[in-house]
Amino acid sequence: MHEGLNRRELLRGAAALGLLGGSAGLRAAAGAASMIGVPFAPTRTVRFGVIGTGGRGTSMIEEMIALDNAEIRAVCDVNRDAALTAVGKIEKAGKKAPEAYTKGDHDFESLVSRDDLDFIYVATPWDWHVPMALAALKAQKHVGVEVPAATTLENCWALVNASEKARRHCLIMENCCYGENELLVLNLVRAGLLGELVHGEAAYIHDLREELLSSHGEGLWRRFPHTRQNGNLYPTHGLGPVANYMGVNRGDRFDFLVSVSSLQAGLEQYRDAHFPPDDPKRQEKYVEGDMNTSVIKTALGRTIVLQHDVVNARPYDRINLISGTKGIFRDYPPRIYLDGQAGGEAFTSIDSLKAKYEHPLWQTSGDLARKLGGHGGMDFLMLYRLVECFRQGIPPDIDVYDAAAWSSPAPLSQASVTSGSSPQKFPDFTRGRWQEKRGWLL
Ligand SMILES: NC(=O)c1ccc[n+]([C@@H]2O[C@H](COP(=O)([O-])OP(=O)(O)OC[C@H]3O[C@@H](n4cnc5c(N)ncnc54)[C@H](O)[C@@H]3O)[C@@H](O)[C@H]2O)c1
Repeated sequence: MHEGLNRRELLRGAAALGLLGGSAGLRAAAGAASMIGVPFAPTRTVRFGVIGTGGRGTSMIEEMIALDNAEIRAVCDVNRDAALTAVGKIEKAGKKAPEAYTKGDHDFESLVSRDDLDFIYVATPWDWHVPMALAALKAQKHVGVEVPAATTLENCWALVNASEKARRHCLIMENCCYGENELLVLNLVRAGLLGELVHGEAAYIHDLREELLSSHGEGLWRRFPHTRQNGNLYPTHGLGPVANYMGVNRGDRFDFLVSVSSLQAGLEQYRDAHFPPDDPKRQEKYVEGDMNTSVIKTALGRTIVLQHDVVNARPYDRINLISGTKGIFRDYPPRIYLDGQAGGEAFTSIDSLKAKYEHPLWQTSGDLARKLGGHGGMDFLMLYRLVECFRQGIPPDIDVYDAAAWSSPAPLSQASVTSGSSPQKFPDFTRGRWQEKRGWLL
């Protein structure tokens, strides 16, 4: 099932698992202890189970194969061919074949109940992320979900409550946080080169018209939210790194947002130009505005502009802008301006900063990451670092509070757009612990 888990089914499923918390799942279970700073039990080899072996799951399996100290014990997909192709790849790489779970929509429940898995990686369509994460947590497994982790505030809270109750981590697998430029900029910010941070800009601008209208892969599910929702459907790739620069959930937090959407045109025009009048897709009515722009205000008074456009002819852009009292960095292409630099008020290249500020993760493992290539190497480094956190018995870089906070602009932007751009408050998923300063990827 790809497009069809409705809200009632999701809530029923979560309630059946006993993981929603309060009456509508909107609040924390009373007395639940935080997962902030909770270390993994030290583990020499991380045993993965992967749910969803489509485009993303398969490419992450390729990265896992290249990891030392990782094993893929089980894979699951409703598409048997996809699961068996993944098994074949693993075997071809000289590794033990994982068991394949292919018996329908809920066979993932059998996978998560195995007793030989440390971490479940969920790479399925958005509506499945939460039921799968909840099942994994209930089965006492750490879990990482693809982006966005959840699409409603109820389900953001459901993940927080379930992670705390199970005493297991629920991560959002936000690979862009491990990008070469993102980690370089994190170092620049930490070194104080940009001064006091004031403003950030983040986006997911990616021409997905062909994929959205495809008869395969994401075309089977990712277009349908465009018929139902109007807001930022995919906030985390741009927002995660900017949240890390600002120390969101580690000294600052998202306070509220306002959001506006443009008119809808790109997807409809592309569809009409590429599909004949009798194609069923021609009956679809898209309500998602092409460009959604939200402005987030943080508790410390900073602002973040967050954009989403996947249906227009534009070059790929996550913007990745951060500015402070002493300078500004902006990506695509990467450039920097620091107060008083030679050449006047003009952006310059970041090349001269690389030697001094390249992140240690990229210094030590960047060559292998680049060779493997997943999104320029960030995919491998995200997994490499996860395995290192397990091996060292330290907390993961990203936790359930980040998963909830970074995903929540999706429902909040929709609520703002449909109410005349009214301000929408972010829940404090950390329950007051956002003010604690702690590192991110030390
Ligand atoms: N982080 C990134 O850079 C990145 C890139 C692409 C996609 N994604 C995310 O990854 C997720 C998957 O995207 P994709 O591109 O792989 O989509 P896809 O459609 O190619 O793959 C999804 C797979 O999930 C399987 N599936 C659906 N329901 C299932 C169920 N009940 N049990 C088991 N398997 C089930 C499908 O059969 C399919 O093989 C999405 O959340 C997407 O947003 C992230």
